[in-house]
Amino acid sequence: MAEQLRFDGQVVVVTGAGGGLGKAYALFFASRGASVVVNDLGVSFKGEGGSSKAADVVVNEIKAAGGKAVANYDSVEDGDKIIYTAIQAFGRIDILINNAGILRDVSFKNMKDQDWDLINKVHVRGTYKCTRAAWPHFRKQKFGRVINTASAAGLFGSFGQTNYSAAKLAMVGFTETLAKEGAKYNILCNVIAPIAASRMTETVMPPEVLNNLRPEWVVPLVAVLAHKNNTDESGSIFEVGGGHVAKLRWERSSGLLLKADETYTPGAIIKKWDRVTDFSDPQYPSGPNDFLTLLEESMKMGPNDPGEKLDFTGRVALV
Ligand code: NAI
Repeated sequence: MAEQLRFDGQVVVVTGAGGGLGKAYALFFASRGASVVVNDLGVSFKGEGGSSKAADVVVNEIKAAGGKAVANYDSVEDGDKIIYTAIQAFGRIDILINNAGILRDVSFKNMKDQDWDLINKVHVRGTYKCTRAAWPHFRKQKFGRVINTASAAGLFGSFGQTNYSAAKLAMVGFTETLAKEGAKYNILCNVIAPIAASRMTETVMPPEVLNNLRPEWVVPLVAVLAHKNNTDESGSIFEVGGGHVAKLRWERSSGLLLKADETYTPGAIIKKWDRVTDFSDPQYPSGPNDFLTLLEESMKMGPNDPGEKLDFTGRVALV
C-alpha cells in the first residue's frame, strides 16, 4: 500500500468545522493521526443563532472512528479561547485552518452597516484573532502552518457580495504578509479560494454541479499545504474545487514608464493608454520592492521615447 501523508502527534485547529468544508478537514486530519480542535459556533449561514451541536456531532464522529478530537463552541472573534482549547487539551498547536464563515448577501445599494460589520468581524477579525493567538506558539516551536480561506468573490468580485468580497480579499493581503513574517520561523501561510457543495452554495448552484463539488475534494490541497515536509510553499493563493487545483498570482502589465517632470500629465497617460493596459510582456510582482525598483529606473530615465514630442493640442483639459 502506498504511504499516507500523516499528521501523527500534531494538533490541528479547524474553525467552522461543524459542517461543510471545515468538517471535511477535521475528519481528514483526525483520520491521519492528528488531534483536532473542532471549533464551531453552530450558526446559520447568515450568522444567526448558535448551538454546540454542530461541533459535537463532528467530534463524536471522529472519536467513533478512533480519532482524537475536542469541541470548541466560541466564535472565531474570540480566537484566543479557541487556541487555548488546543493548548489545554493537547498541549500544542501546529496547524490552523481559518475556515469559519458566513454570508450576508445584499446589493450595495441596500447594504446596512450591520451586514458589512458582521461579515468583517467573522472573516477578517476572526481570522486575525485565531492566528494572533496561535502565532507565539508557532514562533516558539519554529513550526506552524496557516491556511486561510478567501473566495472567488474576493478575487474577482461577485454581485451582491461587496461585504464578503472585501473581507475575502483581505485574507489574501493578510496571508501574504504573514508568510513574510513567518518565514524565519518555518511558519508557512497560504490562502485558498475553495469551491464546494455546502449549505452556502446549495441555493446558488444546480444539483448536477454540486454533485461534482464535494468538500472532500478540497481537502488534499489543504493537507499538502499543512504538512511538515512536503512543501515550502508560502504566501500563495490557490483555487481549488471539484478536483481542480491551481495557483494564482498577480500579473502586472509592463506598463508605461514616464519621466516624472512637467510632461507627466493626464494627457501623457491617455496618449499611451494601450501601453498601460498591455499584458503582452507581463511582470509577476511578489513584493512592494518590485515597484520601487521600477521607480528607481524611472528616476534614471532620459526624456520619454527620445525624439518624440508629446502633442496635446486641441484638448487642453487632458493635459
Ligand atoms: P458552511 O456554512 O457549511 O460552514 C461554515 C461553518 O462556520 C458553519 O458550521 C458555521 O456554524 C461556522 N461559523 C460561522 N460563523 C462562525 C463563527 N463566528 N465562529 C465559529 N464558527 C462559525 O460553509 P462552507 O461552504 O463550508 O464554507 C467554509 C469557508 O469557505 C467559509 O469561509 C466560506 O466563506 C469559504 N468559501 C466557501 C465556498 C464554497 O463553495 N463552499 C466558496 C468560497 C469560499
